[in-house]
Amino acid sequence: MKVLFATPEIAPWVKTGGLGDVAGALPPALRQAGVDVRVLVPYYPGLRQAFPPDKAPEVVELDSLGAEFADSALRIAKAPDGTPLMLLDCPAYFDRAGNPYLGPEGRDWLDNHLRFGLLSRVAAWLGSEANRLPWRPTVIHCNDWQTGLAPAYLKLLPSARANALITVHNLAFQGLFGAPTRGELGLPAHAWSMHGVEYHGHLSFLKAGLQYADAITTVSPTYAAEIQTDAEGMGMAGLLRHRAGQLSGILNGIDAAAWNPMRDKHLPFAYDADSLAAKKQNKAALQREVGLAVRDDLPLLGVVSRLTHQKGLDLVAALEQQIAALPAQLVVLGSGEKTLEAEFQRLAELHPGQIMARIGFNEGLAHRIEAGADLFLMPSRFEPCGLNQMYSLRYGTPPVVRATGGLADTVIDGINGFVFKEATTAALLAAIQRATATWRDRKAWAAMQADGMARDVSWAKPAAQYAALYAKLRA
Ligand code: ADP
Ligand code: GLC
Repeated sequence: MKVLFATPEIAPWVKTGGLGDVAGALPPALRQAGVDVRVLVPYYPGLRQAFPPDKAPEVVELDSLGAEFADSALRIAKAPDGTPLMLLDCPAYFDRAGNPYLGPEGRDWLDNHLRFGLLSRVAAWLGSEANRLPWRPTVIHCNDWQTGLAPAYLKLLPSARANALITVHNLAFQGLFGAPTRGELGLPAHAWSMHGVEYHGHLSFLKAGLQYADAITTVSPTYAAEIQTDAEGMGMAGLLRHRAGQLSGILNGIDAAAWNPMRDKHLPFAYDADSLAAKKQNKAALQREVGLAVRDDLPLLGVVSRLTHQKGLDLVAALEQQIAALPAQLVVLGSGEKTLEAEFQRLAELHPGQIMARIGFNEGLAHRIEAGADLFLMPSRFEPCGLNQMYSLRYGTPPVVRATGGLADTVIDGINGFVFKEATTAALLAAIQRATATWRDRKAWAAMQADGMARDVSWAKPAAQYAALYAKLRA
């Protein structure tokens, strides 16, 4: 079985969120499950640095796709774990510094439809007879809107052979562009309908994927059910209900090598379930690092997140006085909406030594917060899967989560974490109060940590589920 895993980001080289983590860890797990998988990803500066052109030979020029692709090529490289990478080298589109989707002003690149249209097109082309390479995938596994046109191209190309699967990591990002982009992207006029790529007068990459893929997955069973309801379907519920027979939820795993407190290169002190005293040393080191008072008598609450409405962190900010009065400490690492960034910075100035905010993306600090905090907060309004709560379980840092999506599927209230229902400050505060009270009960706390740390959150089971789905698609 030959599978092309097409993705717009891949950890550790290019990552803005959980999809990067998934793309870095699922393909190697698939290989272990016996799947012949290759990863197609744009050749961004981060990948260019890790796999310089002289070490990533060109295998194919893409000018057969059209004159505008004369400067594009596919390059082959191998990730350190052995996973083959197909790097989409189109300097005009992808050799740009910074965030893969946003320009320096924090706004979407104006040519994102062309950039990710190309990614989608190359994915589909690889699955067609026009691909004369010795390796031709039988399944194209697409991820999110950036690859959403691949299933459409596959259905519309006469020489296409592969089946398409699309995984929805987040229904909120739909890849919407103006109507004239249809022609620019080489999509035929007859695809412009409610049963094609059109969505309320716009072109939607994600809708195209949901419409044309042979199968759809999302990243947790609960989210798979939620997105079929009008309340949570973000305008796609009708289509998703229509395709319910092809839609399923496969819970993400985590990269158990990168997120292992015993071998984590970002931590000053290694620990596991039998050496939790070293976790306390990580707490003190974290307090020093971010400028919190070094106190082991106060519970330390941690947040690592994109700062967006989805994540519900405005609820945490609103509880500033109650958290300070508990008393507890809070450390927030994140970036995103400017108003939330400014709000957390203001709170840090208001409560020196007790609340700290680090604005930006910092992989190392993310690991040290997972290890050094006592509790991890994820009050998400919706959460397709969520990875941080699984990192928290593994790091002996019980998570406080809202009962939604993958959070509901991974955290068990009172057993390995704390779950609350309503997206309100009152419900969140009640959960934080329960959690900090339990933290003071050493025995109960140790039992919770032990449960979380012993859970299997690896990719082995999900990889087997994906392999079974690929096989079903071919049958
Ligand atoms: P999402 O993909 O919706 O952002 P996930 O929980 O699935 O949420 O994954 C987020 C990933 O991004 C995690 O690996 C998390 O540690 C990481 N992350 C988010 N914000 C930051 C940040 N500011 N610095 C470092 N890592 C971050
Ligand atoms: C998305 C979701 C997150 C999920 C991640 C990886 O960014 O917001 O919940 O864990 O994708 O699938």
